[in-house]
Amino acid sequence: MLRRACFAALWILPLSACSAQTPQPGAQPAVPAPTGSVQVVPATPQSAPATPSPSPAAAPAASPAPTSAPHQPKVTYSQCNVEGPYVAITFDDGPSPENTPRLLDLLKKRGLKATFFVVGQCAMEYPDIMKRMAAEGHEIANHSWSHPLLTKLGEGAVTEQLQRTHDAIQQTAGVTAKVMRPPYGGFTANQRVWAHKKWGYKTILWDVDPLDWKVRNAGHVESEILKRTVNGSIILAHDIHKSTVDAMPGTLDGLLAKGHKFVTVSELLAMDRPTPPKPKPVTVEKTPAPAAVAAPAPTPAR
Ligand code: NI
Repeated sequence: MLRRACFAALWILPLSACSAQTPQPGAQPAVPAPTGSVQVVPATPQSAPATPSPSPAAAPAASPAPTSAPHQPKVTYSQCNVEGPYVAITFDDGPSPENTPRLLDLLKKRGLKATFFVVGQCAMEYPDIMKRMAAEGHEIANHSWSHPLLTKLGEGAVTEQLQRTHDAIQQTAGVTAKVMRPPYGGFTANQRVWAHKKWGYKTILWDVDPLDWKVRNAGHVESEILKRTVNGSIILAHDIHKSTVDAMPGTLDGLLAKGHKFVTVSELLAMDRPTPPKPKPVTVEKTPAPAAVAAPAPTPAR
């Protein structure tokens, strides 16, 4: 029967159910580091996508055109620049019948909203959990159908991965996904722009990664999150792991104690402000004019 839950799907990618395979416990995506030859896959797919700061997004859109250029909408976020202590906590790879309901209880008890990046085939398998997420005000977002590394797939296959999940979310939870997160953080700049055009998706990465898929220890997960979260953070976690959910009471209460306020990813994006222009270095060239005139005789040399 299908019980073992969906995370089976995550480590391999059976196109069939979320059930069949046994997850290779420790070994999440040892994947991304593609074997042998190479692809343009993010170097550290599971840890923060490249740089912990406004990274990958900034690269394609921001750098080339300092001033005027046809305005490129921002399509990737690893964190937001917000005024206030807002953060978004996100849970990937579920729903999991063993762990997600317990997590939903913890969130509900505290009145907190989270964002769930669900795997489509798991969503179809656990529609009641999907309905509950939506009913309790959480955001539900697209994490592909069977959790493959999308950079390795052609457009047709990527379309299927995302469209099937988009539909599964609508069908089970009655809501429309607005954002997506690529498995392993792997999505090329072109794919991000394309997904934005096709579904309106923003690609959501993260700036806080407790490596909870790897270190199955609640204390570690809690302390990493508490140490790294700042205003505007997007926190990555996985609701398929018991240890992650075990970490949540302390993590959520710790973040609240630091004054953080929880919003969904879409709410956080709505608060994002353009990164303030770099303060111009107070140049020495501008001001000295009068003085220069006043003291024209630097003569007495050395
Ligand atoms: Ni994932």
